[in-house]
Amino acid sequence: MRFVNEIARTHRCGDLRAADIGKKVALMGWVQQQRDLGGQIFVALRDVAGIVQLRFIPEDEALYAAAKALRSEWVIGIEGTVEGRGGNANKNMATGEVEVAVTALEVMSKSDPVPFPIEEEVDAHEDTRLRYRYLDLRRPPLQRRILARAKANFLTREYLNAKGFLEIETPILVNSTPEGARDYLVPSRVQPGTFYALPQSPQTFKQILMVSGFDRYFQIARCFRDEDLRADRQPEFTQIDLEMSFIKEDDIMEVAEGIMGTLLKGLCDKEMPNPVPRMTWQDAMDFYGSDRPDLRFPMRIFDVAPAVVGSEFKVFTDTLASGGVLRGMRVDGGARLSRKDLDGLNEAVARFGFKGVLWFKWEADGVKGPATKFLTPANLDLLKATASANEGDLVLVMAGEWAPVVSALGHLRLVLGPQFYADRLNTFEFLWVHRFPMFDRDAETGRLMAMHHPFTQPAPEDYHLLDSNPTAVRARAYDLVLNGTELGGGSIRIHDSEMQAKVFEAIGINREAAERKFGYMLDAFRFGPPPHGGLAFGMDRVVMMLTGGTSIRDVIAFPKTARASCLMTNSPSEVEDSQLKELHLNITK
Ligand code: AMO
Repeated sequence: MRFVNEIARTHRCGDLRAADIGKKVALMGWVQQQRDLGGQIFVALRDVAGIVQLRFIPEDEALYAAAKALRSEWVIGIEGTVEGRGGNANKNMATGEVEVAVTALEVMSKSDPVPFPIEEEVDAHEDTRLRYRYLDLRRPPLQRRILARAKANFLTREYLNAKGFLEIETPILVNSTPEGARDYLVPSRVQPGTFYALPQSPQTFKQILMVSGFDRYFQIARCFRDEDLRADRQPEFTQIDLEMSFIKEDDIMEVAEGIMGTLLKGLCDKEMPNPVPRMTWQDAMDFYGSDRPDLRFPMRIFDVAPAVVGSEFKVFTDTLASGGVLRGMRVDGGARLSRKDLDGLNEAVARFGFKGVLWFKWEADGVKGPATKFLTPANLDLLKATASANEGDLVLVMAGEWAPVVSALGHLRLVLGPQFYADRLNTFEFLWVHRFPMFDRDAETGRLMAMHHPFTQPAPEDYHLLDSNPTAVRARAYDLVLNGTELGGGSIRIHDSEMQAKVFEAIGINREAAERKFGYMLDAFRFGPPPHGGLAFGMDRVVMMLTGGTSIRDVIAFPKTARASCLMTNSPSEVEDSQLKELHLNITK
C-alpha cells in the first residue's frame, strides 16, 4: 500500500473498455459505492467520463483494510490492472466488460455523508439540490447536460468562425438597452447618484459594431433581465448573439438554421429540416392561436362562421353582430373525452375571460353537445364538413373577440396535444414565425410598444400605415420556434434616422427622450450606418430543448430560483453599511 501523491492519472474511469484489458492504469475519482462481499471488496469509481468497477482482494492486508474504510463520495486515486469480467460483464455500463484489480490506493479526501445520493434520479427537494448544487452537478443527468452545453458553445464558435464571423465582447456595465424588461442597476461609486444597467442584450453595441464595419459579429453573450421568471426564463441567461451587414432576412435565417442544424446534429445526431417552414405571425395566430405554435400537434383552428350561416343561436349571432369571431378546432378521437375532461377544458379557458368552451362530439348515434339543440341539422352537418370531422371526433368552438378566442383555442391545443398525440412528443418541429406586427399595445396603459425592439425595421410596404394605423404595420422580424418554444428572434434594423425617429415617436419616445436613452446610437447612425440585421438565440433554451430538459435551470451550472436567488451562495444578500455609504445609497425598506 502506498500513500500520497504518488499516483499519476493515466485514464478516465468511464473510458476503459475491453481493449484496455491487461493494461496497468491509474485512475482518480469519487467513490460511488463500496460493496464488501466478504472475500472481495468492489468499489464503483466515478469521474466525469463515467463509472468503472474496482476490485480489492484480501491478499494485501493494508490495501484491503483501506478499501474497507472507503465511503461514498471520498476522492481516491488507484493503480491497478484492467481485467475482463467475462461472464459477469454488466451490459448496462459502458465499462461493464472490465474491472480494475487494484494494487495501490491513495485516499485524497474524505466526504461528509451527502444530503442526497449522487445517482441518475433522486427525489430530493429542488431547494436542497440547488443549495448543494456542486453535488447535484455530480449526478450523471446534469453532467450530461453541462457537457452538452460545452459542446454547443464549441460547435457554435466553430461554425461561426468558419463563416467569417468575429467574436467580439461587449461591455457588461452599460446604459439601459432596449429589450423592454426591467434593468438590473449597478450604482456608480465615483459618480454619485448615477447607475449602470446590466445589458438586457448586446443589441445597441452589435449594431454599432456594424457602423464600425465589422460586418459579421457574434458573441456568446450574457444578458440580464429583471422580469418574472418561468421555467424558460432566468434573470441572467446566455445568448448566441449575431449581427450582419449588407444582408436580407434570408441571409440571417440561413446562418441561424446553419447553427441550429450543427447543434441538432452534434447533440442529437438529427438532421434539420431543409427548408425550415415559415409562417406569418397572422397565420400562426389564426391557425394555432400562438406566436410560437407547437407543430408537433396537427390541430388547427378554423373559422366556424360559414358553417353556421342562418343559425339563430344567440351566442353565435350576437358575437358576429358585435364584430367578434367564431372559431373551432377538431380533436381527432376527442369524442372519448368524459364530461369531467370537458369541464377541465372550461377551467383551462377561464383565464382568457371565457366561461367555457362549446363542444360537439360525433358519436355512433349522432352529434352530442350542449349547443346542438340550438343548431339546425343542416348547420351541424356543415360544421362537421367544415371541421372535416369523423365519427369519434370532437370539435371545440369558441365565440368572442379574435385575440382571446384564438389564444384560448391555442392554449387548448397545448392542453390536449400531449394526450392525443403522445407519439409525436419526441419529434422536433422547427418553424420560422415572421412578419410580426411592429407594435402591440400595453394591456394596462394602452400605449403602443415595439413588439420586438424599437430598432426593428417596419416592412416597407406598410410604411404608409405608420401614422394612420400603426398596429397594422408589420415588422421585418422573425423568431425561430421549436416545439412551441421560442429559441431565438431577430430583425432587420432601421438604418435611416428619419424612420428611427418615427418609430420612437410612435411608441411615445420623443426626440429628447430618444436622445437621452439612445443618443450614442443615434449619433453613430449619423456616420454611415450600413443596412444590417441580426438575431439572438437563447443558448439555455436551445440546450434545454436539445437535451430533453424541462427547465433552463437544468442546463445552467449555477441557476437562480423563481425568486431570483442563488441558494448556494445566498445571493442576493445585504451588504455592509460602509459599502452603501461609499455608493451614496440609503435603504428605505
Ligand atoms: P429577444 O429578447 O427575443 O431578442 O431574446 C432572444 C432570445 O433570448 C432568449 N431569452 C431568454 N432566455 C432565458 N431567460 C430569459 N429571461 C430570456 N429572455 C430572452 C429567448 C429569446 O428568443 N437583441 C434581440 C435579438 C436581436 O434582435 O438580434 C433580443 O435579445 O430564447
